[in-house]
Amino acid sequence: MNLLITGGAGFIGANLVLHWLRNHPDDVVINFDAMTYAGNLENLQEVKTHQNYRFVLGDLRKPLEIEKAFTEHNVEAVIHLAAESHVDRSIHGPAEFIETNITGTFNLLETARKFWGAEMSAHRFLHVSTDEVYGSLGSEGKFSESTAYAPNSPYSASKAASDHLVRAWHHTYKMNVVTTNCSNNYGPFQFPEKLLPLLINNCLQNLPIPVYGDGKNIRDWLFVEDHCEALDRVFHQGVSGEVYNIGGANEWSNIDIVRFVCKELDRELGRSGDDSCEKLINFVTDRPGHDRRYAIDAEKIETALKWTPRYSFEQGLSKTIRWYLDHQDWVKNVTSGTYQDYYERQYG
Ligand code: NAD
Ligand code: DAU
Repeated sequence: MNLLITGGAGFIGANLVLHWLRNHPDDVVINFDAMTYAGNLENLQEVKTHQNYRFVLGDLRKPLEIEKAFTEHNVEAVIHLAAESHVDRSIHGPAEFIETNITGTFNLLETARKFWGAEMSAHRFLHVSTDEVYGSLGSEGKFSESTAYAPNSPYSASKAASDHLVRAWHHTYKMNVVTTNCSNNYGPFQFPEKLLPLLINNCLQNLPIPVYGDGKNIRDWLFVEDHCEALDRVFHQGVSGEVYNIGGANEWSNIDIVRFVCKELDRELGRSGDDSCEKLINFVTDRPGHDRRYAIDAEKIETALKWTPRYSFEQGLSKTIRWYLDHQDWVKNVTSGTYQDYYERQYG
C-alpha cells in the first residue's frame, strides 16, 4: 500500500511514520510536509534510508502540490495529521490555522476524491483530530463521540471545521473516512512550546515556568506511542464514517503535573532546596478563552477495537524526560533561528 501521511515531520506525525515502518515495513510511506517551524526531518533519521520511506516537501494550501504527490506516488490511502497545532499561536494569528487546517483539509479531500473516483470505498482516509472540538467540561463528565461540538479557540474551531468537511465527504461522496479525536499527547519530538516539553526545557535552562491563570485547568494526557497504536487500529479496523475518541483516562491539573515533573527532574538532576525546579514556577495571566477541563471517554475504541494504552503515566513520562535530557541539541536546533536556517545547516 502507498500511504500518504501528512505532517509526518511534526511531533505525532514523526512518531507515526516511525511506528508505521517498524510495524508495516512493506507499506510505502510518503511523508507530505511543508516543513513549518513545527516540522523537523531530524525526527526521521531512523527511516531516512528505509527503502519504503519517501519525503515530499509540499504545502496543503497548494492543491497542485498535493496532486503532484498523488500522481507521482500513486497514493492509495491517507492519514491526515498536518495542521497548525498550537492554541496560543492561533490566538495571536488565526489566519494560518484557517488556511492550513480548513482549506488545506478541503484541498486534500478534493484531491483524494478526484484520484480515487469510482473506487472511493477501496481507499481509506483517516483524519486525525482533537478533543478540543468538544469545548470545555465542568468538574463532571467526559467527552464521548456524541458530545456536541463547541470549539472555543481559533485552533479548535479550525479543527472542528475540518472534522465537518471530512464527515460531509463521507456522506455526500461516499468517501471511506474515519476520524479520531484525541486528548493531549506527550513524548519525544514535541516542540517546546507545548506545556510538557516547555516545562522540562525551562527547568534545564533555569528559566521561569509560566503557569496560566490559577493552574487548575485539567488536561487528559496520553503517551504519543499509545496514540500511534490507536491510529493504526482505527486505520485498519475502524468502520467507515465512524468517529473514535482516544484518551488514556489520565487527568491532571496543570499545576499538579508541573509540580510532579519538577520533582522527577529534581531527582534526575540532583537538585533540591532553593535550586529545586519548583522555585521556577511563575503564575502568569491566563490564556484568553482557556478551556477548563478535558476528559475523554474512550469506551468505544476500547470495546470495538480492543485498544488500551500500554504506557502508565509514570512510564511514559520517565521515557519523555529521559529523551529530552538526552536530546538537548535537538531542542537547541528547533528553537534557534528559523527552521530554514536549520534545514540548510543539516541538509545543505
Ligand atoms: P505539530 O505542530 O507538531 O506538527 C504539524 C506538522 O504539520 C509539522 O510537521 C508541519 O510542518 C506540518 N504542516 C503544517 N502546516 C502544513 C501545511 N500547510 N502543509 C503541509 N504540512 C504542514 O502537530 P502535532 O502536535 O504533531 O499534531 C498533529 C495532528 O494531531 C494535528 O492535526 C493536531 O490537531 C492533532 N492532535 C494533536 C494533539 C497533541 O496533543 N499534540 C492531540 C490531538 C490531536
Ligand atoms: O487536547 C488536545 C490538544 O492538546 C491538541 O489538539 C493541541 O494540538 C495541543 O497543543 C494541546 O492543546 P493544549 O492547549 O491543551 O496544550 P498546551 O500544551 O498548549 O497547554 C496545556 C495546558 O497547559 C493548557 O491548559 C494551557 C497550560 N499552559 C500551557 C503552556 C504552553 C500553561 O499553563 N503554561 C504554558 O506555558
